[in-house]
Amino acid sequence: MPSIATLTLIAATTAPYALAQLSSSKRGLCYVSSSDASTDDKIWDTGDSDLTWYYNYQATPTSGYAGSDLQFVPMMWGAPTSDQDMTFYNTVKGLIDGGAKIPYVLSFNEPDGCSSGGSCVDAETAANTWMREIEPLKKMGVKLGAPAVTGAPAGFTWLQSFFTACAGQCSADFIPVHWYGNFEGFASHVGQVNGTYSNMTMWVTEYAYADAKLDDSQDFYNQSASFMDRIDYITHYSYFGAFRSDTSNVGADAAMLTQKGKLTDIGAWYLGQKATGNVPKGGAAQAAKFAGWAVVVVAAAFWTMA
Ligand SMILES: *[C@@H]1O[C@H](CO)[C@@H](O)[C@H](O)[C@H]1NC(C)=O
Ligand SMILES: *[C@@H]1O[C@H](CO)[C@@H](O)[C@H](O)[C@H]1NC(C)=O
Ligand SMILES: *[C@@H]1O[C@H](CO)[C@@H](O)[C@H](O)[C@H]1NC(C)=O
Repeated sequence: MPSIATLTLIAATTAPYALAQLSSSKRGLCYVSSSDASTDDKIWDTGDSDLTWYYNYQATPTSGYAGSDLQFVPMMWGAPTSDQDMTFYNTVKGLIDGGAKIPYVLSFNEPDGCSSGGSCVDAETAANTWMREIEPLKKMGVKLGAPAVTGAPAGFTWLQSFFTACAGQCSADFIPVHWYGNFEGFASHVGQVNGTYSNMTMWVTEYAYADAKLDDSQDFYNQSASFMDRIDYITHYSYFGAFRSDTSNVGADAAMLTQKGKLTDIGAWYLGQKATGNVPKGGAAQAAKFAGWAVVVVAAAFWTMA
């Protein structure tokens, strides 16, 4: 049964989407380094784009964005091997002591995921690491992001264990969310997280409709943008797609750059610009899938003739 919060959200989603806004100060860059960084990095930091902040899964800024107006948000990606390690804390303190403005930090990328990009940390280790390296940053005025679990049900369980292990000693200010399914699933997931952790604001730090067709990817993009722009407790969001379509691990059509490094429609909309009409193409994996389809089509043609 959906919770009341979920139902409220679903009701909120019936408003028209044609009004997807081109601009929003909530938007940030989920930075993924590429072999074309020297050209592609500049695309996200033109000075007059819509993006206001970025993270790169690391504690230190991306070299290409030194002196940029984009607010850097450090992340402690996983847990260090030693339980005495203070590297993350010292690095962030060093940035602040050096004059950098660090209003927020993020912690633990998909700790409940032990394959494909997750940091695979158990809840107890994460809680201890948090209390040692993250909690003390609060005294410096830094707002703390709860661990960014996957959108799978296991993520919820993990978070529950994390806060239990913290025993009230992890004072998270906001809760990150990841999502790779369709819009209805996204809206319901956001409602469930808000229903469970209603004491925190929310950041959607990775989202896209993975492996969907271009039309559906664009539709998802527009619906989710207008949805997040409308919900006050979602204060920040960053689309997962700042890379070329032929290197995408969430499907070519979700990407914000074509295989040649040009902005796709989604990429342009995300930056607050008009559609480009540039259609993303896949790489080797996509081509292999396509070849598979061709074989099926040829076989079907033979069948019809027989
Ligand atoms: C989020 O949770 C708060 C607190 O329970 C609630 O007041 C608010 O209506 C929820 N938001 C939505 C959109 O469900
Ligand atoms: C998405 O939103 C943009 C910007 O508002 C608009 O130009 C475009 O037509 C919309 N596309 C779809 C598929 O809804
Ligand atoms: C929200 O609740 C969690 C879990 O109980 C707690 O650890 C955290 O400090 C709370 N955050 C705020 C801003 O009250």
